[in-house]
Amino acid sequence: MKKRVVILTGAGISAESGISTFRDAGGLWEGHDIMEVASPQGWKLNPELVTDFYNKRRIKLSEVEPNAGHLALKHLEDQFETYIVTQNVDDLHERAGSKNIMHLHGELIKMRSEAFPDDIYEIGYKEMKFGERCPKGGLLRPHIVWFGEEVPLINEAAKLVSGCDYLLIVGTSLEVYPAAGLVNEVPPHCMTYLVDPNRHGGLAGNRLEVIQGTAAKVLPELVNRLLNA
Ligand code: APR
Repeated sequence: MKKRVVILTGAGISAESGISTFRDAGGLWEGHDIMEVASPQGWKLNPELVTDFYNKRRIKLSEVEPNAGHLALKHLEDQFETYIVTQNVDDLHERAGSKNIMHLHGELIKMRSEAFPDDIYEIGYKEMKFGERCPKGGLLRPHIVWFGEEVPLINEAAKLVSGCDYLLIVGTSLEVYPAAGLVNEVPPHCMTYLVDPNRHGGLAGNRLEVIQGTAAKVLPELVNRLLNA
């Protein structure tokens, strides 16, 4: 049976593609308070601003490419049962060719109906106008998990992590729950690798290797190492 690798990614893996991280920018996000553009309250207060904010992020996403870090992960599939659990809303893992990708915090290239939350629409990099509706008449909102909202896929993600042989944690400050709590689900035999240029540790456990470096530099080497172990 193939061994299982779960890769938990955050904003840092897309940094070298040109998408800025959150906390490195001092709590501001492209000049906005995060709550203004990423909370249900913000959406209620100023939906035009929120719509515009995600339009700009979508345009930016259409202009960038996956980097060597995203691309390396795909090769794990040659030998491992591989799952990417990402907090990122970009589509760079998809564009790098990875197969099993779970977006904990939603996806920029999708909208969903407020009235029928299971109705999710792929819009690509299209610019939206506030007030657009789904075919059933529901108001469309960004398919993003905002602060204060539930993370519907968290239990599924926890189950994946609880059965993994290797966990790679890449480019996340592990400050946002429940995603950050996934690291507590690793089984005792699991080997964990933490890849981040700015972190020295902060995780418990002796089956842990911290690799201080950027995703695009470290991941190709680390993936090779795992494939040849
Ligand atoms: N390679 C790897 N890691 C990097 C790189 C890089 N090139 N550049 C920066 N990092 C690291 C930073 O050191 C930091 O630890 O990436 C991490 C980014 O952390 P955050 O900005 O907090 O991003 P993330 O952990 O993904 O945030 C979690 O918070 O704002 C919400 O919903 C949003 O999904 C997001 C969640």
